[in-house]
Amino acid sequence: MAQLALSKVFKSYGELATVHGIDLDVASGEFIVLVGPSGCGKSTTLRMIAGLEDITDGEIRISGKRVNELEPSDRDIAMVFQNYALYPHLSVADNIAFGLKLRGTPRDEIRRRVAETAAILGLEPLLERKPRQLSGGQRQRVAMGRALIRKPSVFLFDEPLSNLDAKLRVQMRTEIKDLHARVPTTTVYVTHDQIEAMTLADRVVVMNKGRIEQVAPPQELYSAPTTKFVAGFIGSPGMNFLPGRIEAHEGSPAFRLSTGDLLPLAQKNEATLISHRDKPMLAGVRPEHFRQCAGGLAPVTISMVEPLGMETLVHFKLAGEASVARLPPSNTLRPGTQLPLQVQSEHIHLIDPETERVVG
Ligand SMILES: Nc1ncnc2c1ncn2[C@@H]1O[C@H](COP(=O)(O)OP(=O)(O)OP(=O)(O)O)[C@@H](O)[C@H]1O
Ligand SMILES: [Mg+2]
Repeated sequence: MAQLALSKVFKSYGELATVHGIDLDVASGEFIVLVGPSGCGKSTTLRMIAGLEDITDGEIRISGKRVNELEPSDRDIAMVFQNYALYPHLSVADNIAFGLKLRGTPRDEIRRRVAETAAILGLEPLLERKPRQLSGGQRQRVAMGRALIRKPSVFLFDEPLSNLDAKLRVQMRTEIKDLHARVPTTTVYVTHDQIEAMTLADRVVVMNKGRIEQVAPPQELYSAPTTKFVAGFIGSPGMNFLPGRIEAHEGSPAFRLSTGDLLPLAQKNEATLISHRDKPMLAGVRPEHFRQCAGGLAPVTISMVEPLGMETLVHFKLAGEASVARLPPSNTLRPGTQLPLQVQSEHIHLIDPETERVVG
């Protein structure tokens, strides 16, 4: 049985529909990340699970029980927000204990659970401090402690790290992953940071305009996106989309770019190739699937070079599209010079621009 199940969940604000029928089953102990551009409905979905927003239609079940009509406090969930607003006049220990006190939990039990939670989060030396005496990361950990101490069935996080600086984000991300490994609570985590999504999730839910585009483990999203949106959203820099057509070239299937260049399509399914032949198509190529090598495409002119240390991003126009390749660092990569490139054709994603679906 799914620990958390959403079926055909809709949300409208007046006339404005923002979530269009979401179906999602989350297994017990699973870490699910909702990711997508700003305004796609991530927070709204999370807030509906939490009970902070009514749902317009559909059903939400937690541990098998319908919760549509239940107050947030009766749903057995705990939520950590971006603005986790600790009580400034209370100590760390009292901040963590706050929810239990409110519920009238006996003192001894509160003391025991605060100690246990502080141990899990490494907060023991800080229990007597006030929030203003903590760093951003420590405050974030206290906010998690407040949620963790309740031992909820489902943990909900809404961009909990977005107020932290880059280095601290990476550290807290690792801590959250480690925490989940030690205390595997069912989790729904919202972020628009795809690295956070990819590194934390058992499965990632990619949302777009109030709909789910794809639900898959991180590696599968990267290697087998099912829509153009997911193909372009996952991966940084994003996938290049090169316009052209599928042709039979000397008996072998190939993708002909508008420049005349041919990309072999030997590994693709024949029926797929035949059904999409001779109409406008897109070849999706990730930046890392170009090779600097003669004998492939006609050389392109480098427009910009971004050295990143371990790799260099090289920008150029290909088939009329601004494109980018991820290449090993080299002194010869300079703007204005010619660059011979090959495409690793086994990694091409064929996209039908009409349906925006990846067909092969
Ligand atoms: N109370 C409200 N009344 C009307 N519209 C709302 C309300 N709350 C959210 N919306 C709209 O619903 C849509 C989804 O908002 P939501 O906050 O879920 O986006 P999000 O994916 O969390 O975005 P972000 O990454 O910016 O946090 C947006 O278009 C937003 O303007
Ligand atoms: Mg949001």
